[in-house]
Amino acid sequence: MKVLVVGGGAREHAMLWKLRQSQIGARLFVWPGNPAMADIAERLVVPEGAGWQSIAEVIKQQGIDFVVVGPEQPLAEGFVDICESQKVAAFGPRKNAAMLEASKSFAKDVMKKAGVPTADFQVVAGRDECSEHAFAMLRATGGVVLKASGLAAGKGVFVCRTEQHIEEALYRLYDTDMKSAAHEVVIEELLEGRESSFFCLIGKSGITPLGFAVDYKRLEDGDQGPNTGGMGCYAPVPWLPEDAEQQILQQVVHPLLKELEQRSVHYTGFLYVGLMWTGKGPKVIEFNVRLGDPEAQVLAVYDNKDWGVMIARHLGFDVPGEVVVDASGSRTAVAVVVASRGYPFDTASDRPAALDAAVFDNSALPHHPVVFGASVHKEGEGMLKTGRGRLFTVAAREHSFAETREKVYARVREITRGNGSFRYRSDVGAGL
Ligand code: AMP
Ligand code: GLY
Repeated sequence: MKVLVVGGGAREHAMLWKLRQSQIGARLFVWPGNPAMADIAERLVVPEGAGWQSIAEVIKQQGIDFVVVGPEQPLAEGFVDICESQKVAAFGPRKNAAMLEASKSFAKDVMKKAGVPTADFQVVAGRDECSEHAFAMLRATGGVVLKASGLAAGKGVFVCRTEQHIEEALYRLYDTDMKSAAHEVVIEELLEGRESSFFCLIGKSGITPLGFAVDYKRLEDGDQGPNTGGMGCYAPVPWLPEDAEQQILQQVVHPLLKELEQRSVHYTGFLYVGLMWTGKGPKVIEFNVRLGDPEAQVLAVYDNKDWGVMIARHLGFDVPGEVVVDASGSRTAVAVVVASRGYPFDTASDRPAALDAAVFDNSALPHHPVVFGASVHKEGEGMLKTGRGRLFTVAAREHSFAETREKVYARVREITRGNGSFRYRSDVGAGL
C-alpha cells in the first residue's frame, strides 16, 4: 500500500511514526512535510504553487491508496471532497463536516439541536450587537467569552472577566485582521472547571476511541503567559471520572453524529472534542475535525492500537491484522514542545540553532523518547537548523508520570543544552 500524510508539523511526524509501525506495511509519503521526516517518508513531488486540485491529481498519478489529512485548513477548503472526486480515499471530514471547526456558530447550532451539553450562547452579527450582549452578560454573570466564528488559528477566543477585557476583545475582533473570521461572533457563558480533550476516529467501522489528553495552552509554567498552539500534553487523564469515555460517547459523539446524519452530513476522520468538566458534568467547548498538536504526539506514544489498520478499515479497505497491538499494563505518556525563544509573538528576532538530523531518528522501535520535528530546515549533510515557532516535540511513555517526565526532560535538556534559542515549559505532566 501507499499512504500519504498531508501536513508539515510534529503532529504529522507522529502520525507517520505510528503508520511506520503499522501492520499494513505501507510505503509512506508526506506533503509538504519537513526535513525531520526525511528517513520516515518520501516527500511527494508537487509543482511549485500547486493548488489542492493539482495535488490530488499528483496523488492519483502516484497510485496512493489513501491520504490522511493532519491540519484543519485543507479540510475546511474541501481537500477531502477533491480527493474523492479523483477516486482517492482520504481520512478526514468533507468540507460540509469540517464546518464543525471552521464555523463555531454552525457547531453551536448542531450541539443545540442534538442536545449536546455546551455553554449557553448567542450568535451576533456586528460590533454594536456584540458589545451590548457581552456587557449585559458580564453584568449578569461576572464573565463572558467572545469567539470569532471562523478559523482564527487559535487566536479568536477571548475569555472576559472585566469590562476592559471586553473592550480589548472587541478591538481584536472588529479592528484587526480577524474581521473576516469575526463576520459572526459567538457570545458564550463562561464555564468554570478543568479542561481535557477527547479523541476518536470515525468511519466505516463506527467510532474508535483514542482517549483523553490534556494540553498546556499557556506559554509559561504554572499556566502563566499568553496562549499558544500548545506547549505540552499528557495522557491518560487520571482526574477524570471512571466512566468519562462512556459519558462523552453517549452525551456528545453519538448525538452529534445523529444530528449530522439528519443534515445529510457524513463524518469520516479524527474528531477532537474540547471539554470543560464543570460541577454539572462535561460541557463541550469546541470541536476540531482533526487531531491536536501536540495531542497527536502524546496519543501516538500513549495509544496501543495500530493506526494504519484502523484508518484503512474506517476507509473501507479490507486489511488483515489486529487493532490492539500492545496490551502491556499501565501506561502514561508526556509530550513536551520545544519552541523558539520568541514564540508566540516575537519570533522575528529568533536565532536559528543547529541540530544534528540524527535527533529525529526514531527508527529503533519501540523507542522512547521519540522526537517529532516541526519548524526545522536543512543545513548541509546530516544537519538541520531550527526555524521559528514550535520547533519539535519530545514524547515518551513509561509506567508512571514521574518516570515519563524524567525521561522526556532528560532528552529535552540533552538536545537543547542550555542554548538560549529554545524555550519550553518544565511542568508538563507534573503533580499527577
Ligand atoms: P477554543 O479555541 O474554543 O478551544 O478556546 C480556547 C480556550 O478558551 C479554551 O481552551 C478554554 O480555555 C477557553 N474557553 C473557551 N470557551 C470557554 C467557555 N465557554 N468558558 C470558559 N473558557 C472557555
Ligand atoms: N493543541 C490544540 C490544538 O491543536 O487545537
